[in-house]
Amino acid sequence: MIVETIFSTLNASGQPNFAPMGVVWGKAEMIVRPFRDTITYRNLIETGCGVVNVTDNVLSFAHSALSRVQLPHFPALRVRGVVLEEACYWRELEVTTVGGGEERAEIRCRVVGGGWQRDFLGFNRGKNAVIEAAILATRLHLHSQSEVWAAFQHYDEIVAKTGGGQEREAMQYLYEYARRWFVAGES
Ligand SMILES: Cc1cc2nc3c(=O)[nH]c(=O)nc-3n(C[C@H](O)[C@H](O)[C@H](O)COP(=O)(O)O)c2cc1C
Repeated sequence: MIVETIFSTLNASGQPNFAPMGVVWGKAEMIVRPFRDTITYRNLIETGCGVVNVTDNVLSFAHSALSRVQLPHFPALRVRGVVLEEACYWRELEVTTVGGGEERAEIRCRVVGGGWQRDFLGFNRGKNAVIEAAILATRLHLHSQSEVWAAFQHYDEIVAKTGGGQEREAMQYLYEYARRWFVAGES
């Protein structure tokens, strides 16, 4: 099963990076599939380790998907890495093998540590809609403007019905990002 997580890595000089990544979840092994042009991929190759953070804070997903923001964090326990402060729980990983295709890598990792901070509240429809909108926002180049606005309107309605302040703020952030992207003519 693929779990939507926030993956944190360090570069060779110790600068943290956070990005949402779907991870094939296992007790002893995890598989992450970063595109080869991501910082996550470069850092995993450079340092050989990373941290997979599970959180129900969808604002952290929206921010880390689209910006180089340094989300609040603290040092990992068993690897050279950082844990997202908003993580409900996390696993610390060491890379074992790197495979995959030309565009997207498949990186197998051994679980060497982890921790727990609070219960995972769960994803309701509103949180789920934000996650879908965040994925869409990272793939604007693959869609027309009208497709994007139609999808955003649908997600927005779900958030209005079932979300709270965090989900509404995240949707607003994603919408503004997409609007700026199309205005800048990057389509
Ligand atoms: C929920 C979610 C899951 C994602 N899963 C992946 C993934 O498995 N692999 C990937 O390369 N990008 C994935 N992305 C897109 C990356 O998070 C996005 O391209 C990000 O900007 C990469 O950041 P980085 O260059 O700092 O590593 C996902 C985005 C979201 C919102």
